[in-house]
Amino acid sequence: MKKRKYSIYRECQGRENLDKIPVAVIGATGAVGQRFVALLWGHPWFDLRVVVASGKSQGHIYRDIASWRLKEIMPEGIGEMNVEQIHPKTFKDKEIKLIFSALPPKIAKDVEMDLASLGFFVFSNASANRMADYVPLLIADINPDHLALVEHQKKTKSGYVVTNANCSVTGLATALKPLHEAFGIKSVVVTTYQALSGAGYPGVPSLDITGNIVPYIQSEEEKIEVECRKILGKLTDSGIEHSPINVYASCARVPVRDGHLESVLVDFKEDVSEEEVKRALSGYEGLDNKTPTSPKRPIIVTEDESRPQPIFDVYNGEPERARGMAVTIGRIKRIHGKIRFYLLIHNTVRGAAGCSIMNAELAEMEGYI
Ligand SMILES: NC(=O)c1ccc[n+]([C@@H]2O[C@H](COP(=O)([O-])OP(=O)(O)OC[C@H]3O[C@@H](n4cnc5c(N)ncnc54)[C@H](OP(=O)(O)O)[C@@H]3O)[C@@H](O)[C@H]2O)c1
Repeated sequence: MKKRKYSIYRECQGRENLDKIPVAVIGATGAVGQRFVALLWGHPWFDLRVVVASGKSQGHIYRDIASWRLKEIMPEGIGEMNVEQIHPKTFKDKEIKLIFSALPPKIAKDVEMDLASLGFFVFSNASANRMADYVPLLIADINPDHLALVEHQKKTKSGYVVTNANCSVTGLATALKPLHEAFGIKSVVVTTYQALSGAGYPGVPSLDITGNIVPYIQSEEEKIEVECRKILGKLTDSGIEHSPINVYASCARVPVRDGHLESVLVDFKEDVSEEEVKRALSGYEGLDNKTPTSPKRPIIVTEDESRPQPIFDVYNGEPERARGMAVTIGRIKRIHGKIRFYLLIHNTVRGAAGCSIMNAELAEMEGYI
């Protein structure tokens, strides 16, 4: 592994002297895929060359087939790309080694591992391979050391798979990391209020969700409980030793466009005050060497009693390329010796495509690409 020697990464993100890395997005027409495409367009290190979707979309122009539902206008140029099918030759012809995956889990499971066997570096949002022993479940500014797990994969494959977590877990783990480091956590109770874009496109039928709340999201509570333990676990020579923290989750779908709100109750090993919690959260800096998509501050603490709210806070994060990459936390309160707060995460940015891109940036910086 050759570690790159860029000291102040933010300053040299323009890549005047380095060629950009050619990349593809598979599952490019869905809710996460579209977010990938938007974030990769004009990226300082990565050059989006191929967009892939299912057979029904193949051969169409991206503009015609992607029902662009992002707030932003589809950037000029993206729309003219041809939609391809998953084919290693297409990637090789375009000199692509790095692939971002937004495939449905059932398809992702084998496709991603096959691509890794063929030498591709796959950064995935799908849940299918997240809990595999040697697959990092990575949030670059939370558990960057876990990236080294790919060394195990490289013993049997010429490429590798790196996953990012479930979108609710990413918000929760971001908040828990500095708190666990500072005070030690015994257990966590979390209730989520999850946006519609978390169900993909077109997602939940309008008659099920208009003026309603659905207190069930398939497999979500189980994912939150197990993925959190892996992310907060310890890297050892034989893999990840999962954290013993118990997480109890309840999840509901609410009629919000983007942004998962979570009510979190934390039981610490020691007595902790509201002020200590605020300091630990707002002082967390994340990666020492910032990458283009990593936020200056991964956590923003608000003192406003009525926040965070999706409508106001979902795009928090600096600089411009890291909009939507900060988790906003408010209403921090000590209740019967435990600490309760609300957090908000942009589910398709920090909770999906943005996190995956930040992970790939870390991999590039650490010499894994
Ligand atoms: N939405 C979120 O907030 C979120 C957050 C974290 C993780 N995730 C995970 O990210 C993945 C994508 O989620 P999503 O919400 O974007 O789903 P989605 O809106 O349903 O999009 C699925 C994408 O996969 C493509 N696809 C389906 N079958 C395919 C095949 N056989 N070959 C190639 N492409 C195929 C679809 O293309 P067509 O348009 O041609 O059908 C579409 O581009 C899922 O694994 C999901 O669990 C989602």
